[in-house]
Amino acid sequence: MDSIWQSTVELPKFSRLTGKKKTDVLIIGGGMAGLLTAYMLNQEGTDCIILEKNKICSGTTGNTTAKITFQHGLIYSQLLKNEGIYTAKKYLEANRTALKKYEKICSNIECDFEYKDSYIYSLNNKNKLEAELSALGKIGCRAEFSENIKIPVKNVGAVKIPRQAQFNPLKFAVDISNKLNIYENSFVREMRGNTAVTDSGAITADHVIVTTHFPFINKHGSYFLKLYQNRSYIIALENADDVDGIYLDESGMGMSFRNYKQYLLIGGGAHRTGTKSSCWNGLRRFADINYPNAREICHWAAQDCMSLDNMPYIGRYSKSTVNLYTASGFNKWGMTGAMLSAILLSDMIMGRKNEFFKTFSPSREFLKPQLLVNSFESTKNLLTISKKRCPHLGCALKWNRDEHSWDCPCHGSRFDEMGKVLDNPANGNIENFLL
Ligand code: FES
Repeated sequence: MDSIWQSTVELPKFSRLTGKKKTDVLIIGGGMAGLLTAYMLNQEGTDCIILEKNKICSGTTGNTTAKITFQHGLIYSQLLKNEGIYTAKKYLEANRTALKKYEKICSNIECDFEYKDSYIYSLNNKNKLEAELSALGKIGCRAEFSENIKIPVKNVGAVKIPRQAQFNPLKFAVDISNKLNIYENSFVREMRGNTAVTDSGAITADHVIVTTHFPFINKHGSYFLKLYQNRSYIIALENADDVDGIYLDESGMGMSFRNYKQYLLIGGGAHRTGTKSSCWNGLRRFADINYPNAREICHWAAQDCMSLDNMPYIGRYSKSTVNLYTASGFNKWGMTGAMLSAILLSDMIMGRKNEFFKTFSPSREFLKPQLLVNSFESTKNLLTISKKRCPHLGCALKWNRDEHSWDCPCHGSRFDEMGKVLDNPANGNIENFLL
């Protein structure tokens, strides 16, 4: 079940950590956020090591649809309503800065970077689109209403933002990782102060950054309350249309579209990890009807961390941790969020000020309606009677028969049929799983 990126790009290999080492900055997690942060710190002459539990980019980065955009659903009308104009403006400016940084770095890298217009369409709610256009106007973002979009879905129009981008994330990762100090197959089992301990070594650092998708240290930051995970599905079709843009349904439950070379990527079927879904079946039915001459060349799934207010958590791990940082909760906008994380975290480590620190601080207000939903799900699944339990915090696991995995509805950990961990925050396999 390799993604289109994984099946076409060979990533470099790195050795496993052995023995004890010291560094200025240790980054735990070798996805795009970790790689970019190390890349930027390296350019400033800061000594950095990345520890990756598996292979670099083997998690969400390898399974993304790789859109680079500051159009994140209908976020600006939501932010304007829930957080106010200051936050909405900062969110736009920060993500615009991330797009510009990609433009600059990608100009020297062969990674199939190309500009595309971005569209958020609606099946039936024009009012929501108009509210978003109005919000975008208030915060100074050029956008327009588009009525004739090139996807075979009945819709009432779309909000279009021109000149966003898409790329091949693994071609990009190959280039930026070649000068970085990386250890693979080095699972951090525990933190002892500023020392990360793996099965075969340990690294002590002045600063530690956790970019492990879901922050794995439970005793600080309450991420088990502030995040949940969402799973979605993608198919790549040959002999389908060129949609000439990047598209997403505003409802969050619909489909996304983009092309990569001669292929059309269609995403959808999103659901909270550990709950029932139709996986790829809905997408395949859609493809059969709308692209009867197309052939599926690969399919895969993506897993995303969702925050309480739809904005990522980037910065100090918690108020009480001085040299510990994290970046998570990209809400399906992982490529843009990864670049934003690298900008903010490198500024933080280098002691520079940045006007966006406060907006993305993991310690910001977290009394939001989604907190109640997360708490309810956790309580319900903690009280569910089942022999198969998640080693993270003990919730009952659910069998996912399409992907042959045991999935946790609380915070999204996943395990294979033998109890081997596939997705964190669980920090290890389940012992004696088959008993
Ligand atoms: Fe937290 Fe399972 S992922 S209890």
